[in-house]
This record gives sequence, structure tokens and C-alpha cells, in this order.
Amino acid sequence: MASLRPATQADLAAITAIYNEAIRNTTATFDTEEKSLDDRRAWLAGHGPRHPVIVAEQAGAVAGWGCLSPWSDRCAYADTCEDSVYVDASSRGRGVGAALLAELLRLARQNGMHTVIARIADGNPASEKLHCSAGFERVGVMREVGRKFGRLIGVQIWQRML
Ligand SMILES: CC(C)(COP(=O)(O)OP(=O)(O)OC[C@H]1O[C@@H](n2cnc3c(N)ncnc32)[C@H](O)[C@@H]1OP(=O)(O)O)[C@@H](O)C(=O)NCCC(=O)NCCS
Repeated sequence: MASLRPATQADLAAITAIYNEAIRNTTATFDTEEKSLDDRRAWLAGHGPRHPVIVAEQAGAVAGWGCLSPWSDRCAYADTCEDSVYVDASSRGRGVGAALLAELLRLARQNGMHTVIARIADGNPASEKLHCSAGFERVGVMREVGRKFGRLIGVQIWQRML
């Protein structure tokens, strides 16, 4: 089983590699340009105490990462956050994503969040199942808001009340 802990600078190479694989090969993220280590360093530093970045470690290697991010910088949204979960392609389908999301929900509650939002691009059954099993409900869809790999893609909004 994976062990979960806060991410550190030492995890950034693995976090970046996992994210860049998803950028290259999936519509899970609407980023289209791979991220540099420097970019991810700034990204990690920008995550304050209420919006942690965590990793799942298995056999001494980072098998996946997850984070909470602010939903908006407008103050009235302060207790609403968004989750992200990315698992290394070789470790998917073995419970790592579920463990990361459960820990993010625990931290969100601990940090006084009221609700967590997930944006899931159409055509990602693994993420839909992951979020459904964690108690998220699909509350809407934004049609054809992204264009990647030459096609238009909708984004579902899922929400978990805490
Ligand atoms: C989505 C993702 C994070 C799920 O993590 P994972 O470790 O593979 O998922 P788990 O093994 O914990 O499985 C979680 C649930 O999803 C189901 N699932 C996993 N892969 C699936 C697939 N390819 N198709 C359908 N269901 C799937 C599991 O059966 C499990 O269901 P359960 O709750 O009924 O037991 C992972 O596939 C991933 O990193 N994908 C690319 C990035 C991504 O899509 N991130 C989410 C962006 S919104």
C-alpha cells in the first residue's frame, strides 16, 4: 500500500514527470505544453498551508501526487477548493488515486474547507469513478470549452460537500 505525505522539493522531478506524461497523452489536463522543473518549483511554493500538495510513495518512489488549489482568488470563495490527482501510468488502477483523494478530503476538512470541486474532462471514466466513489456528485457540464488533440472537449463539474 502507498504511504501518503506532504510533497517536498525532492519530489518535484517525479511530480513533473507524472504531470508531463498526462499533458502529452491525456485530456485529463488542458495544459498542452510540458512543465519545467522551475515552473513546478514555483507551483509548489505557491501552495499555501490550506492548499497542500501530497504524494503517494510506493517502494521508495513517487507513484502519484495530488493537491488542493483555490477555486478562485475572490475572497468569498475562500472555503471552496479544487482537487487534482495524478497517478503514474504504471501505478494506475491499484488504489493509489483513491488513497490520494481520501487524504485530500481529510486535509480539506481539517483546513476548514466547506466544499471541494473537481473538473473532469469528458471521456475520463477513471476520474469519474474515482470521484463518484469518494462521494462527489456531478453538478454540471461546460460544453466544448477545451480544444486538445484537434477536438473540442467538454468539462464536467463535480462537487463534494464536506
Ligand atoms: C484518474 C486517476 C487519478 C485514478 O487513479 P487510480 O489510482 O488509477 O485509481 P484507483 O485505482 O484508485 O481507482 C479508483 C476507482 O476508479 C476505477 N477505475 C480506475 N481506472 C479505471 C478506468 N480506466 N476505467 C474505469 N474505472 C477505473 C477503479 O475501479 C476504482 O473504482 P471503485 O471506487 O469502484 O473501486 C488515474 O487514472 C490518473 O492519474 N489518470 C490520469 C490523470 C487524471 O485523469 N487525473 C484526474 C484529472 S480530473
